[in-house]
Amino acid sequence: MPRTRERRSEPTAEPERIVGATPTAGERAAEVALRPRRFDEFVGQDRIRDNLRVFVEAARRRQEPLDHVLLCGPPGLGKTTLAHVLAEELGVPISVTSGPAIEHRGQLGALLTRLQPREVLFIDEIHRLTAAVEENLYAAIEDFRLDIVHGDGPYASSLRLPLAPFTLVGATTRTGLLTSPLLSRFGYVARLDHYDADALRRIVTRSAGLLGIDLDPQAAEEIARRSRGTPRIANRLLRRARDFAEVLGNGRLDAPTAREALRRLEVDEAGLDEMDRRLLRVIIEHHDGGPVGIETLAAALSESRDTLEDVYEPYLLQQGLLARTARGRIVTERAYAHLGLPPPRRQPTLF
Ligand SMILES: Nc1ncnc2c1ncn2[C@@H]1O[C@H](COP(=O)(O)OP(=O)(O)OP(=O)(O)O)[C@@H](O)[C@H]1O
Ligand SMILES: [Mg+2]
Repeated sequence: MPRTRERRSEPTAEPERIVGATPTAGERAAEVALRPRRFDEFVGQDRIRDNLRVFVEAARRRQEPLDHVLLCGPPGLGKTTLAHVLAEELGVPISVTSGPAIEHRGQLGALLTRLQPREVLFIDEIHRLTAAVEENLYAAIEDFRLDIVHGDGPYASSLRLPLAPFTLVGATTRTGLLTSPLLSRFGYVARLDHYDADALRRIVTRSAGLLGIDLDPQAAEEIARRSRGTPRIANRLLRRARDFAEVLGNGRLDAPTAREALRRLEVDEAGLDEMDRRLLRVIIEHHDGGPVGIETLAAALSESRDTLEDVYEPYLLQQGLLARTARGRIVTERAYAHLGLPPPRRQPTLF
């Protein structure tokens, strides 16, 4: 039976790893301390940031709420950060909730009726709203009203409650799971991309300043290069590398200390960890470089198919180390080179 992946809205729990994009236990507080508060502190994503700046300024001048904004993109790229920056720059309060936290219409109603004029309502994981809650949200975001229906059948009566005009900021890691009626109600959809090494270097340098870390520019580059395009990972590697600098060195985080820390953390030059390398090596050593079916691969690595597809593969695919074909996964020549292995005698066929 084909798997209906579109229906699945539960995110795959990411195993805790040093290069994982989801926050590790207890990391939230450390993140809040490093979170940019204003556009000026928000590094990278220039086009999105500049557009939002214009929309915020226009809304402020007209004393109107900002049009609804949807922030899409992989974990750790700054969606929650941007939602808070928007409220701060608009000079309005922000209410924070998430798709799974709003269990029924009553809860949504309670949230909406408490909003101040022009307030930002941030709904994280917005793709996980229930259908009933989502339908109630439509009138709220379109006409700033809440329809409350009492009873059903011929005796049903409805009450129309006006709401303060507000801004909905939605965030999702799975844009594909959003319904089109919801998607079409956002005035601006921002798709966040992975950061380049220069932006990550600036982020690491800024964080080091906030944490009082004596960071060498070359060490910043070293950490940036291995952070998989993700600010969350960059900040995590910085915090761990600082531990090594303080315990094993004199506190200064220079390039050799950073390299040694990353070696001990088993994060290689390209930001791959042991599991990433194992995945590539299994295909090379046991399947001649592929193609190999995802289920076979999952069994060989003792991982679920979902974890492989959602957690491990995306970065390897993006880096061109792994490729998907109709007959399964293959590793690329680049992967052989990365692992220091001689290139395959016979390139696996792509079709
Ligand atoms: N553009 C940026 N400049 C500086 N730091 C950033 C930037 N984006 C993210 N960060 C840092 O990365 C951390 C993670 O970002 P954030 O929590 O906003 O990601 P997210 O996209 O909401 O992730 P998730 O999908 O897991 O909710 C933040 O705490 C912040 O310190
Ligand atoms: Mg978030």
